[in-house]
Amino acid sequence: MSDGIRAFVFDAYGTLLDVNAAVKRNAASMGEKADAFAAMWRSRQLEYCWTRTMMNRYEDFWTVTEEALVYTLRTFRLDHDEDLKARLLSAYFVLDVHPEAREALARLKDSQVKISVLSNGTNQMIKAALEAGGLLEFIDAAFSVDDLKVYKPDPRVYQYACDTLNVKPNQVVFVSSNTWDLAGASSFGFKAARINRSQLPPEYEFAGLHSEHRSLVELATLIR
Ligand code: LAC
Repeated sequence: MSDGIRAFVFDAYGTLLDVNAAVKRNAASMGEKADAFAAMWRSRQLEYCWTRTMMNRYEDFWTVTEEALVYTLRTFRLDHDEDLKARLLSAYFVLDVHPEAREALARLKDSQVKISVLSNGTNQMIKAALEAGGLLEFIDAAFSVDDLKVYKPDPRVYQYACDTLNVKPNQVVFVSSNTWDLAGASSFGFKAARINRSQLPPEYEFAGLHSEHRSLVELATLIR
């Protein structure tokens, strides 16, 4: 499976980083609505990335994350709580890494194959979270869409990773838990590897997948 592969490119949020960590850390303030709150915050955050890209009105991921949080706090009638907002935002800046990520990256680490991250997050957000989670030592390069001012799944973003790594699309395994991102990567020409921790159904089948794994460690074990 690793024949001809010159780079692993990882999505960050949802794949290496736990997007629900900020809400989990503050769940006591939200009670039983915590899961629905986390889901709405994430879905609005992504929607704002896509609509802003289509409208040519880019703002960085930190800004759209805050905009999505403001909407979600209003919806759940928690917008009076400035302290909660500040705690959620600061927790989002350094999200927890998924517990298996370190072991998986350590297994994949090989001087012949580059390991990189390509994320909608800002350079600052990605670096802070990867550093806090102890992943930075395994990463050869981290790319942010902020250098281009368009969000994934715009093909220019995937092209940017190829150009910078000096590899062809079919030499890249792109790893993500986000099906929309895998569809974009596969349509671009990457080998798309889905990390499907919750055994969710297939989606974006028209775009095709290269492989599907229950965890990052399973991917690392099969590929190496
Ligand atoms: C990322 C998010 C949006 O690009 O999944 O890291």
